[in-house]
Amino acid sequence: MTMRAPGVHRRPDLPDRVRIYEVGPRDGLQNESAIVPVDTKAEFIERLVAAGLETVEATSFVSPKWVPQLGDAETLFSMLPERANVRYPVLVPNVAGLERAQAAGAHHIAVFAAATETFSRRNLNRGLNEALEMFAPVVTKARQEGMWVRSYLSMCFGDPWEGEVQIDQVVDVALRLVGQGCDEICIADTIGVATPGHVHDLLDALGRAGVATSQMAVHFHDTYGQALSNTVAALEAGVTTVDSSAGGLGGCPYADSATGNLATEDLVWLLQGLGIETGVDLEALVKTSTWMADRLGRPSPSRVVRALQDGRTPEKSEP
Ligand code: HMG
Ligand code: MG
Repeated sequence: MTMRAPGVHRRPDLPDRVRIYEVGPRDGLQNESAIVPVDTKAEFIERLVAAGLETVEATSFVSPKWVPQLGDAETLFSMLPERANVRYPVLVPNVAGLERAQAAGAHHIAVFAAATETFSRRNLNRGLNEALEMFAPVVTKARQEGMWVRSYLSMCFGDPWEGEVQIDQVVDVALRLVGQGCDEICIADTIGVATPGHVHDLLDALGRAGVATSQMAVHFHDTYGQALSNTVAALEAGVTTVDSSAGGLGGCPYADSATGNLATEDLVWLLQGLGIETGVDLEALVKTSTWMADRLGRPSPSRVVRALQDGRTPEKSEP
């Protein structure tokens, strides 16, 4: 018996539709030791869009000295065809980055703060307060000019240098980010240490502090295999935007213990089984991640990609 899709069992307490915010081309490729050719990146994004992903974070307009892997941001962005229903958000740390993104034609940007002082310094060369000061004019100018703005908040659960991160500390920084006027705040588990109870408690605390669930997104890395469980906890809290990375590519060059993001294929399998609409064609996505894994010279860490690639059926392929 071939199972290339899960049986569907709806849970009425969960949302009907989830927006998948694909981060593979940015969070995935920023962490590759080899520089991926720009044509390959453009084809990767094109294939992701063809598989039904409508939000694909394409690249970062950061310092190329800090992230050389994304030093081709202008060239890549110019290769992306404009489509009415597709968004290509880009990371922007400062006004110089915003100007580059605008000149390239971006309409959707993301600034990226941290809930901890140490990671803020490692990732942005600035403490938490200075980083928020750097973002304030970016968010204001972008919003005035009609752009959509996401604010990431990294290290919301644990930090490799500071240990477990307290919920009050995360809520405090989140409220400051929301106060700057972003459209969406993305709660990130950069090093993958969260567990579902922690996710529930943090999202609940954010809600009680006045952050609307409709404004929240979640971004889980899968270091400890908890990303899918954490996603279910976020869906239970009413979150409908979930980040993932095709094939489970990813990490963060400034956080050693960050491994790949939640794989988009694993997320799609979960959501399909729950009868939650995503608009994504799983078979096309698996082919794309297999193709990308071949380009990178190593297999995808996604369980679903490994189970479905090459048209194999998992039941027959296991010894
Ligand atoms: P700095 O060294 O303090 O910056 O870095 P600076 O303002 O002193 O400038 C230094 C040089 O960079 C200057 O050039 C600037 O012109 C240039 P020089 O005079 O030496 O030739 N520069 C730029 N060039 C191009 N574009 C720019 C730009 N800004 C300055 N936008 C800075 C500060 C913020 C620039 C740096 O720390 C940086 O680029 N950091 C980015 C780090 C990064 O991208 N990390 C990964 C993304 S975050 C992540 O992955 C987490 C996430 O996935 C969520 C999660 O999982 O938690 C989002
Ligand atoms: Mg990340």
